[in-house]
Amino acid sequence: MPETLTITDNRTGVTYEVPIENDTIKAIDLRKIKVDPDDFGMMTYDPGYTNTASCKSRVTYIDGDKGILEYRGYPIEQLAEKATFLEVAYLLINGELPTASQLAAWEDSINLHTVVHENIKRQMEEFRYDAHPMGMLISTVASLSTFYPDAKQVGCKENRMLQMTRLIAKVPTLAAFCYRHSQGHPYNYPNNSLGYTSNFLSMLFKMNDNAYEPHPELVRALDILFILHADHEQNCSASVMRAIGSSNADPYSALAGAAAALYGPLHGGANEAVLRMLKEIGDVKNVPSFVQKCKNGETRLMGFGHRVYKSYDPRAKIIKKTADAVFEVTGRNPLLDIALELERIALEDDYFVSRKLYPNVDFYSGLIYQAMGLPTTMFPVLFALPRTSGWLAQWQELVEDPEQRIQRPRQVYLGERGRDFVPLSKRG
Ligand code: CMC
Repeated sequence: MPETLTITDNRTGVTYEVPIENDTIKAIDLRKIKVDPDDFGMMTYDPGYTNTASCKSRVTYIDGDKGILEYRGYPIEQLAEKATFLEVAYLLINGELPTASQLAAWEDSINLHTVVHENIKRQMEEFRYDAHPMGMLISTVASLSTFYPDAKQVGCKENRMLQMTRLIAKVPTLAAFCYRHSQGHPYNYPNNSLGYTSNFLSMLFKMNDNAYEPHPELVRALDILFILHADHEQNCSASVMRAIGSSNADPYSALAGAAAALYGPLHGGANEAVLRMLKEIGDVKNVPSFVQKCKNGETRLMGFGHRVYKSYDPRAKIIKKTADAVFEVTGRNPLLDIALELERIALEDDYFVSRKLYPNVDFYSGLIYQAMGLPTTMFPVLFALPRTSGWLAQWQELVEDPEQRIQRPRQVYLGERGRDFVPLSKRG
């Protein structure tokens, strides 16, 4: 079977043969399709990149119709059940699960870099008392680039590994500082004798008594949430990470951009939006009228729908189970009943069924974070923290891929051309 596509341009009757590789054609191969030799040539038009592959990747696999998610070939269900977040971060960055000694060395090097420069702390203190934690996180991650000018050497593998280790180690410290700032509480320094996730909880919640010990069920639940959020292939923020990285910017600047993309309510800000929505609905009896509003197009059912998943998001299934374990410790979140009723009605309703809209990762995660005592404004930060490892894995793959070039899409220009300038006195 020939691995080619035959295209006939009905404007000219000319037939073109285009090679197929991995079920794709190269967009540049269409350029030879022209009516006149002077034409620019054919392009594809794809706002939102709904059917355009921007890279070849070996990091994360998703089958949206079957609800499959794998990191480096390992199903998310097995990783969530059996791995720790740091093991998964290692897997994403290095392509293989670590051996026991590799994992110990990885944990040691992360521990070595958890502290941030005191000037970062002082910068953070200058934010307004009610600054959104995600705004603080984005700016302080960008600030880190000024502390590590060596990060500009993106072509050096060793240097890249150092910066990636620093970022995975320091983002939890920054995230915890964001929370402490918003509470008006003193910042807690990292305690490297604790594990990655316990240390994060301790930096969030420890008061002056030093006696804070995170509940092991909550540590494990948060670790699972971190695993589920670690990567999701070429989503909006990963694409931003790659777009900024493609200009050879340092990873701190690129990651600040990726985090900014994550902040939006259609992406990682959805978990915050879900909680606001549940509070606004207020009572199970108001669910049907809210669903009707969604169907009328007046609002969206936040935490539902996905560009890629056209069946139940596999992460949402695991989160729902994790929520039960958390509520055993913290007590049931009263908003859960509203969420369950929303899900029940939506999954039976033709509007949602026909559009294949199912709960996504953000539908239940916020209920867990809230039960753990975190304010809604921290939710996107809790998404950005583990996603840091995924963004970095994507960035590293981009930098090492000889086929990648600076990202620079084309446009279909429909505006005016060749107009003569009109002096101010002659306008209107
Ligand atoms: N509630 C109601 N209707 C919806 C929803 C929703 N949550 N999502 C999509 N639709 C409808 C939409 O109105 C459209 O209907 P029609 O064909 O009649 O115009 C149809 O479904 C297709 O929607 P779309 O906006 O073209 O789909 P998209 O692939 O561009 O958007 C999405 C995907 C995730 C942005 C969207 O489903 C959405 O806005 N969901 C709510 C926000 C959310 O939960 N985001 C988190 C996504 S998962 C985590 C992450 O990526 O960070």
